[in-house]
Amino acid sequence: MDFLIPYSTLLNSHLEKKLASKKEPTQLYEPINYIVRLGGKRLRPILTLMIADFFGDKKEEAINAAMAVELFHNFSLIHDDIMDDAPLRRGKETVHEKWDTNTGILSGDAMLILAYQLFEEYDATLFQQLAKLFSKTALEVCEGQQYDVDFETRDDVTILEYIKMIDCKTAVLIGAAMKMGAIVAEASESCQENIYEFGRNLGIAFQLQDDYLDAFGDPETFGKQVGGDIITNKKTFLYLTALQKSEQEESETLSHLFSIAPKDPTDKITTVKEIFKSSGAAEATVHEIEKYTRKANEVLNKVEISLENKTKLQEFGAWLMQRTV
Ligand code: IPE
Ligand code: IPE
Ligand code: MG
Ligand code: MG
Ligand code: MG
Repeated sequence: MDFLIPYSTLLNSHLEKKLASKKEPTQLYEPINYIVRLGGKRLRPILTLMIADFFGDKKEEAINAAMAVELFHNFSLIHDDIMDDAPLRRGKETVHEKWDTNTGILSGDAMLILAYQLFEEYDATLFQQLAKLFSKTALEVCEGQQYDVDFETRDDVTILEYIKMIDCKTAVLIGAAMKMGAIVAEASESCQENIYEFGRNLGIAFQLQDDYLDAFGDPETFGKQVGGDIITNKKTFLYLTALQKSEQEESETLSHLFSIAPKDPTDKITTVKEIFKSSGAAEATVHEIEKYTRKANEVLNKVEISLENKTKLQEFGAWLMQRTV
């Protein structure tokens, strides 16, 4: 994956400059610097730069859009961690744990605004296209996040509803990150749409993988609390499939466990993970990840870029699905 290095180098230097420019009040800006400097994979902005490069040799021009996407993503993580009551992010304390909830709310809000502000660097035509896509996407993320929370207390969620929810909370942003690269490169509308759909399918596979790692990831490397989705009764593909595939007794145990919130969740997590495995849901999730990665690659075939660059995007997708973080 050496071909990613120029994109991440470009991104990292601009992001660092952006962070260093804001200082006071420290209670507002320190959490912003903290979460962004924890890094993460930075896959979304890298995709923006890569697509701008592939479609029109425009990676420098795409830097502000790329930073906007990463700031928005980090904003959504601060608020998501409050909503999910998560203690760990990127191997460190979450913002609301390190500071407090109000700090997390306001620093998150400021990041969202900083993200929008970056589009002001573009001329009127690009600004309008980028801001329009960004607003649509951001609203969809809010809708996805609300469905995710609603599902915690519902016992009749369908797999179709789950896919719609992860499409909104995660996949559309990955699609939009790529489409922004295509917009900056002034690619044709059909190219923009195809790359958006490629990103969306990859995004669905990505969230399925995130849910899988939430249960089966290695606590040493995952960087988030393993079992967090089980503790909060998230209706993931793993859970919904296990419910369908397991014998009556196990499926009753499972749905009971997903209606309670024990003080010490250790036994709940162990039992649920066993059912996820024994029912075949864990394996089915791996297949579903492959299915959406395949779908993404099918759409990629329609995109008018060189075979070499298509291969890079496919490698990137395959690499994402192998991740442990
Ligand atoms: C986490 O995204 C939130 C999801 C949509 C699953 P990432 O896994 O991209 O998080 P970082 O930015 O690399 O930490
Ligand atoms: C997060 O989904 C989606 C957004 C942040 C919008 P998750 O709640 O699964 O993300 P993680 O696992 O906390 O990173
Ligand atoms: Mg979360
Ligand atoms: Mg969440
Ligand atoms: Mg998760």
